[in-house]
Amino acid sequence: MSPQRPITPQHVAFIMDGNGRWAKQRLLPRAAGHAKGASQVRKVIENCVARGISHVTLYAFSTENWARPSDEVSALMGLFLKYLRGEVADMRENGIRLRVLGDISAFSTEIQAAVRDAEESTAHNSRLSLHVAANYGGRNELLGAMKAWMKANPGAPPEALDAAGIEAYLYTKDLPAPDLLIRTGGECRLSNFLLWQTAYTELYFTDALWPDFDAAALDKALIWFKGRERRFGKTSEQVQL
Ligand code: IPE
Ligand code: IPE
Ligand code: MG
Repeated sequence: MSPQRPITPQHVAFIMDGNGRWAKQRLLPRAAGHAKGASQVRKVIENCVARGISHVTLYAFSTENWARPSDEVSALMGLFLKYLRGEVADMRENGIRLRVLGDISAFSTEIQAAVRDAEESTAHNSRLSLHVAANYGGRNELLGAMKAWMKANPGAPPEALDAAGIEAYLYTKDLPAPDLLIRTGGECRLSNFLLWQTAYTELYFTDALWPDFDAAALDKALIWFKGRERRFGKTSEQVQL
């Protein structure tokens, strides 16, 4: 088997979509779907650890999600805080390192403190690296990276800027690009998620709603991934050498 057909993806990114529809199917408020979705996160991470995946990125809240009704935004903030505070001890014990990707300055001081605490107290862990994208937007990230590069290199000519220069200022600067992106909820779009990093990511879309995304659904995605041929612009003959 060629190295272009890895058995297991090293980095899997998830767009956790479909909480609202899950709740609607049950005649429940949208917040109940988010609560169920948040409780699903733990199981998905356990399943990823069990399958030897070393990096997981979860899209939890986009820069555009602030435009939702304020009671829904409040419910999501409450769940984020509860998750950060409630999971940190288990993460520390289970070797999970947590990092938040996004502009956390827009969150309450309580959430910002909980993020810092969770990041600091899991910083030494290395079994699974978990990244939660919160107030994250790919366009903001890229704009921020370009501005940061320009500030760090005052007066530099445009030719001096290269891909590595941009990558050095992305939230994901220390991370490998995702090998596999899984979006639940049936939509086939990125919704401003990891626009730069997904250049050669395998994209998997499933109708399963996030609260229903169980071990069997993950395994289905991983089997699909195994069947991909990652060519990175080359021909099939070249990568099979
Ligand atoms: C994803 O579920 C969670 C967030 C965007 C925070 P949605 O709330 O978007 O669920 P649907 O798409 O309305 O079903
Ligand atoms: C993407 O889902 C954002 C997250 C899952 C956090 P959305 O539900 O916000 O995406 P759109 O609006 O359907 O594209
Ligand atoms: Mg949605």
